[in-house]
Amino acid sequence: MAARTLLTAGITGVGMSYPDRIMTNHDLEKLVETNDQWIIERTGIRERRIADKGTGASFHGAKAALRALEHAGAKPEEVDQIIVPTVTPDMVFPATACLIADLIGATNAWGYDLEAACSGFLFALQNARAQVETGAAAKVLVIGSEVMSAILNWEDRNTCILFGDGAGAVLVESVDPGRGGIIDAVNGVDGKGAQFLYQTAGGSRVPASVESVQARQHFVHQEGREVFKFAVKGMAAVTEQVLARNGFTGEDVKLLVPHQANNRIIEATQRRIGLRDDQVIVTIDRFGNTTAASIPMALCVGREEGRLKEGDLVVLCAFGAGFTWGATLLRWTAA
Ligand code: UT7
Repeated sequence: MAARTLLTAGITGVGMSYPDRIMTNHDLEKLVETNDQWIIERTGIRERRIADKGTGASFHGAKAALRALEHAGAKPEEVDQIIVPTVTPDMVFPATACLIADLIGATNAWGYDLEAACSGFLFALQNARAQVETGAAAKVLVIGSEVMSAILNWEDRNTCILFGDGAGAVLVESVDPGRGGIIDAVNGVDGKGAQFLYQTAGGSRVPASVESVQARQHFVHQEGREVFKFAVKGMAAVTEQVLARNGFTGEDVKLLVPHQANNRIIEATQRRIGLRDDQVIVTIDRFGNTTAASIPMALCVGREEGRLKEGDLVVLCAFGAGFTWGATLLRWTAA
């Protein structure tokens, strides 16, 4: 049997969408015992976007997807597959991917949601890459979309100051290997981390009940300090790992596009691989932590600011609930 040759997968379009409503740190001062200075110093966040009540993840996800398709010069009906990493799907089921397919007119696509919290985009990107490399799919949309405001306890200053809403999408297609594309990815999980960052209720173990609502179990719960300890080491380590195993060092990297959970975690990764500030995309100041949407939104900002050039060596990295983590190495193909 003849050996099958793999194609090269690359990102060919990016798009984002986010709510108009801005919530500043000063707005939060009216809700919980906090202050603008603490939030900026400890996290880097100045403001975040908040979706209108009743808006699900599909709403901005669909808009982001259409923009990514437009950038790539592709039509919705050409899309083969839609993967939606999210922890805030419109409903438990059906998948938000189905709803977005319907909203954008992707009538020939199949798809699914993927739940890996802040690493969700990188996990989904790896799946999209495998589909395209093997020829199983030609055009795969990966749409990170979150309405984190729907699962926040607005009386808990440990969590409500951190997150925001928004969506970012990329189209993954086969590209000429001479142009670049996705080179490698390292991903991991460790369920022992589940005790530090979770939403207890609404799943099968603790279904919704009067008691679960009264106990505030439908909200994000985070042991911030514990997660910070793992994240600050984990994100830097996985970034270094994906570079090293491909024979690269920080000196080869043009741009780092990290998950936006905390500026101090981003800086630790930046320092570990020795990058200048202008080599890191930071959006946390304006969007907060948008979980699975943060990396594709940061890619959009990078493109809008003209900081992503064809062929640039780019590293994407994330750490999140699970624990989950990942880093993806690529050469940019969506200028
Ligand atoms: O994206 C998914 C993964 N998630 C993450 O990566 C998040 C990781 N964790 C973090 O980013 C940080 O742990 C936080 C930003 C959540 C918290 O920062 P921290 O530096 O770890 O603060 P802390 O929890 O150690 O609290 C320090 C102090 C405490 O006061 P005392 O005990 O020193 O008097 C807290 O009570 O800050 C106080 N504090 C606050 N003060 C004002 C905690 N939250 C707030 C607040 N406003 N919102």
